Amino acid sequence: FKWILVVGARPNFMKIAPLIRAIAAHNNKNGNRIEPFLVHTGQHYDVRMSDAFFRDLQLPEPDVHLGVGSGNHGEQTGKVLIEFEKILLQEQPDLVIVVGDVNSTLACALAAVKLHIPVAHVEAGLRSFDRDMPEEINRIVTDAISDFLFTPSPDGDEHLLGGGIPKEKIFLVGNIMIDSLLFNLEQAKKTSILSLLGLSNSNADENPAMPSIPYALLTLHRPASVDNRETFNRILAGLLEVALRIPVIFPMHPRTRKQMHTFGLDGNFVFHDALPVDMSSYRDQNGLMPKIHCFEPFGYLDFLQLMANAKVVLTDSGGIQEETTVLGIPCVTLRDSTERPITVTEGTNVLVHDDPQKIVAEVSKVLEGRSRKGRRPDLWDGQTAERIISVLSEQLTSG
Ligand code: UD1
Repeated sequence: FKWILVVGARPNFMKIAPLIRAIAAHNNKNGNRIEPFLVHTGQHYDVRMSDAFFRDLQLPEPDVHLGVGSGNHGEQTGKVLIEFEKILLQEQPDLVIVVGDVNSTLACALAAVKLHIPVAHVEAGLRSFDRDMPEEINRIVTDAISDFLFTPSPDGDEHLLGGGIPKEKIFLVGNIMIDSLLFNLEQAKKTSILSLLGLSNSNADENPAMPSIPYALLTLHRPASVDNRETFNRILAGLLEVALRIPVIFPMHPRTRKQMHTFGLDGNFVFHDALPVDMSSYRDQNGLMPKIHCFEPFGYLDFLQLMANAKVVLTDSGGIQEETTVLGIPCVTLRDSTERPITVTEGTNVLVHDDPQKIVAEVSKVLEGRSRKGRRPDLWDGQTAERIISVLSEQLTSG
């Protein structure tokens, strides 16, 4: 069998890596060999948005790089569609696996289904019910045209069944992102990112990898958060107040950097363009660093280590809501909806949207020890990729 696996943007890499490992394990003990063929669409192309993740996750070099790059949604999706179709015609795969909800996910699923090549969608069934989100459109369309729908949690099954997808196509397998998290957690602890950021006490005799300074970790990049001046300003007002209580570490997405310049908000941030950082000049008499400290995007392992040791995480990302739930770290989500409600009902997540008062109130709860502990949802156990490969190899051999 030849199976094409697709990656395009940053949140795809950690979802494909476990599948590649599970295919190798399958090949070691099985007669029906699966030949994985990795396609990178090039939706994300910066070293820090892409290459660093290949290295950290030990992904093999892609067999093909489509080099599509940035663009308007139609343009980007269209370019992937055109280029990916050529690969399909050339390689004639038995299956295409797409993950998540980025433009590359939709474009590659569409190209494959038009050529009658079976499509597996990993992380199916998620819904924010907010069609202003480009990802929501990608989810709805990809789910509607895929043949195998792998869901991370029971709400995914309900959405798909409610949308008329037959039961036989839906497989509740758990959360693939958590496979990567659990697989890499020990490795992440070995990184020196905490000391490079001046967050661990370099004089500490014991474990310099442990943070001696409590910090909040922030990510913010969605069009709904940063493309609208008013929303960006409201979120920023909350964050600046948070930063007076606890230093905020902010790896900045290229989109956010651009919007911050456009809206003239640069003065609110301290930029650290190179590591290590000498944070001593930012410390007040209490040893705190009351600012929003911006960095280039971190790699997977560094970010995991920062997340695992944060006092609180503030984010508008999707995957980070899940990762913090598994790590048991409080997550304050800067959105008014989530396609991952189980992180709120079972995990450590709370939605505050762009309300400055709510942002500050939720962080205060954490700092005062009043936040919820949460639990890890069922099947978020690091074995999701194995379950997917076993379903697919069984289904495809049985015809
Ligand atoms: C995409 C995904 C989003 C995901 C995010 C993670 C879609 C619709 N959105 O959004 O779900 O959460 O990735 O990062 O697919 N840019 C660079 N270097 C890069 C990539 C992008 O500088 O390597 C800049 C470009 O100016 C581009 C902008 O960032 O215009 C946005 O990139 P794009 O791929 O369009 O979407 P993201 O906002 O990254």
